[in-house]
Amino acid sequence: MYGNADIDPNLKIHSIVADEDPIKLAAFEARIAAADKIEPRDWMPKEYRRQLIRMIEQHAHSEIIGALPEGTWITRAPGFRRKLALMAKVQDEVGHAQLLYSAAETLGKTREAMINDLISGKSKYSNIFNYPAPTWADSAVIAWLVDAGAIINQTTNAKGSYGPYVRALERICYEESFHLKYGHDNVVHLATGTAVQRISVQKAINRWWPPLMHFFGPPDSISEHSVILMRWKVKMASNEDMRQQFMDMYVPKIWDLGLTLPDPKLSKNKETGLWEYTEPDWAEFKRVINGDGPCNKERLAVRKMAEEKGRWVRHALLRKDAEYVTPLA
Ligand code: 3HC
Repeated sequence: MYGNADIDPNLKIHSIVADEDPIKLAAFEARIAAADKIEPRDWMPKEYRRQLIRMIEQHAHSEIIGALPEGTWITRAPGFRRKLALMAKVQDEVGHAQLLYSAAETLGKTREAMINDLISGKSKYSNIFNYPAPTWADSAVIAWLVDAGAIINQTTNAKGSYGPYVRALERICYEESFHLKYGHDNVVHLATGTAVQRISVQKAINRWWPPLMHFFGPPDSISEHSVILMRWKVKMASNEDMRQQFMDMYVPKIWDLGLTLPDPKLSKNKETGLWEYTEPDWAEFKRVINGDGPCNKERLAVRKMAEEKGRWVRHALLRKDAEYVTPLA
């Protein structure tokens, strides 16, 4: 799955665009360099289209699957206020998926094809949602730190080149900032609460830190898509840049709450200004994103059930199957 790190990135690009019209490609790259927004009807290299479909579809799947671990806590939220806020957040996430599926559809892949590829395991979604959320503190840590990582990722990509995607991201980022505040308020409440609450949120942080270190993708040296995605401004920062930004912003906040992180090596190098940390387990990452995580089967089973139970509605709306539609008098 990962590219060969020592391939000359320029050589790699030439092989990717070898069959494109050189004049059209040069005009496209001049538009990218001028920070133009590429729109659905504009000429674009086949690889630009393919990569955008892959990335936006994966993002949309992540939103709709991401709603599952938190959604299970709505009925068990500790109080009406938390229940209301969590319901609003989960509804937002599902809405983000719809925005993103619509953006991906502008590139020619239907929503039905995307959902089918999700359910079949052909398409990916974020690694982080394949882990269980066994306590309320897990849902609090997800709402704070996973959404914090997503905001870094999304605000960065919102400066990108594809019009429908960046417009969807702008809308999504507004709502994510509420999620972040809700999550932070939740974690602070637990971290400054009873001993039982403090222990529960520390245990949740310990559970979520390793998958959070995977969240921004593999090391830049083996990131298969970064070179072309950054050249064409689909991805506006490297995986490691986003990971470092996340640690810069949130490790001090976690420590300020008197909480610890499960990495004895984690420290900021004063000379380089970079965070040093224990190399994440990329073999686990690879297993999880390829279907072998703790909750992959459970997550996809829920999506499959929703797809099957909702099929009659779609068919009725699209008047696909006579059996679902009462003939007009
Ligand atoms: N989870 C699952 N797969 C991942 C991944 C992750 N966290 N990070 C990388 N991968 C996969 C890639 O899809 C690729 O696999 P493929 O070739 O089979 O598709 C492989 O690992 C190599 O990784 P690359 O670094 O080359 O991949 P990218 O250049 O695409 O970078 C990314 C990964 C930074 C996640 C980028 O795809 C991206 O910015 N995606 C759009 C935003 C997004 O999906 N954000 C995360 C989820 S949104 C969310 O959390 C919801 C919120 O409401 C909580």
